[in-house]
Amino acid sequence: MDKLSITGGRRLHGEITVSGAKNAALPILCASLLCSDDITLHNVPALKDIGTTLKLLQQMGVRSQQPEAGTVTLNASQVDSLEAPYELVKTMRASILVLGPLLTRFGEARVSLPGGCAIGQRPVDQHIKGLAALGAEIRIEHGFVVARAKRLKGASIRTDMVTVTGTENLMMAAVLAEGRTVLENAAREPEITDLAELLIKMGARIEGHGTDRIAIDGVERLHGASHHIVADRIEAGTFLCAVGAAGGDIMLRRAAPDTLGAVLDKLSESGVTIETGPDWIRGAMNRRPAAVGFRTYEYPAFPTDMQAQLMAMNTVARGTAVIVENIFENRFMHVQELRRMGAQIDIDGPTAVVTGIEALSGATVMATDLRASASLVIAGLAAEGATTVERIYHLDRGYERMEEKLRQVGADIVRITEAS
Ligand code: UD1
Repeated sequence: MDKLSITGGRRLHGEITVSGAKNAALPILCASLLCSDDITLHNVPALKDIGTTLKLLQQMGVRSQQPEAGTVTLNASQVDSLEAPYELVKTMRASILVLGPLLTRFGEARVSLPGGCAIGQRPVDQHIKGLAALGAEIRIEHGFVVARAKRLKGASIRTDMVTVTGTENLMMAAVLAEGRTVLENAAREPEITDLAELLIKMGARIEGHGTDRIAIDGVERLHGASHHIVADRIEAGTFLCAVGAAGGDIMLRRAAPDTLGAVLDKLSESGVTIETGPDWIRGAMNRRPAAVGFRTYEYPAFPTDMQAQLMAMNTVARGTAVIVENIFENRFMHVQELRRMGAQIDIDGPTAVVTGIEALSGATVMATDLRASASLVIAGLAAEGATTVERIYHLDRGYERMEEKLRQVGADIVRITEAS
């Protein structure tokens, strides 16, 4: 299993190119199931989760080609299996995103129910409830969601909570349904907007994406399209927290600053100098950060996917920060590892109180989930001495060549590859 070895204390200077967003690419790859023409995608990040999704689609009969790095062409004209097996779903919950497209185009789908996951229970009841409202007959059989419908029928659906992949699944199901579907309480994340933009290029009729009310008028069929995936706002935010914690001056190229409002506000509040242009963000820091409290909520508020990274920065800040995690019930697993580096953090339910210290001390720590891993890397960059981050397969699920990008801006970080 690979690990990262970091020697902390180096300031970060230079340029980093931001990759395409994992969370936009995953539903967009699944959207290729909605038609029989070629879908060509650019700015697809080279990540483990993307590989898993391609494998899942290939098992269903989708043909894929990668003519050059970052470009993927998919063709779903010869789909011969309507099943997502447990072996793949268990490694990536987002596999549930094939459910809506398969059902609406082929009238049937069998998708393994994702199990619990490290950061919380994460049920998919809202996906199921929404598809049932569109007229699907749904049963749970032998650990699979089995869904059938002749043709889905548009309906008004209000999910009990705001769900990102739930909104995506229902939007993809509705584009080929008969009549109008209205999704109330829809998620507003930029990744939803990116998916909607691809679907519209494919011939879908969608209005209101980016708001909490999305209206979709179903069409008979969709056609081929090509699309450039939006920049990864979480990757960009992670590098900015790294510069906030370790100091320095970095320029992020091919970024989407307009998707990062709440994160940039918090970084500015902590003392990071932020400048932005249409597709770049510069972050500079020449002192210890000031502690900044925050609460995670749905977009456009502060994202849960940045909670661990901004907490890592707060561990070396001046003052005390109160952090409240409102989205997932068990998303503080990085806290125990950060404490091993000397961080002072108290937890009470969904609230973490971080009292900043002058410097962390390097240690061997273990990554427990994707964003927790990123927080440990940030802590390692800011710490005195050597840090080893173990089990970085989590990191590889969502960050493209993270150690190479950080080395490019002067970090002392290497990957140690060990036979598993
Ligand atoms: C997506 C993101 C993930 C991010 C999360 C919240 C992808 C591939 N993943 O995950 O990185 O952390 O949004 O921004 O885009 N819930 C239910 N029932 C459901 C669906 C959700 O109870 O049917 C609950 C969840 O347990 C959670 C909350 O709703 O507490 C939000 O989850 P959701 O937005 O669905 O997260 P994901 O789409 O899985």
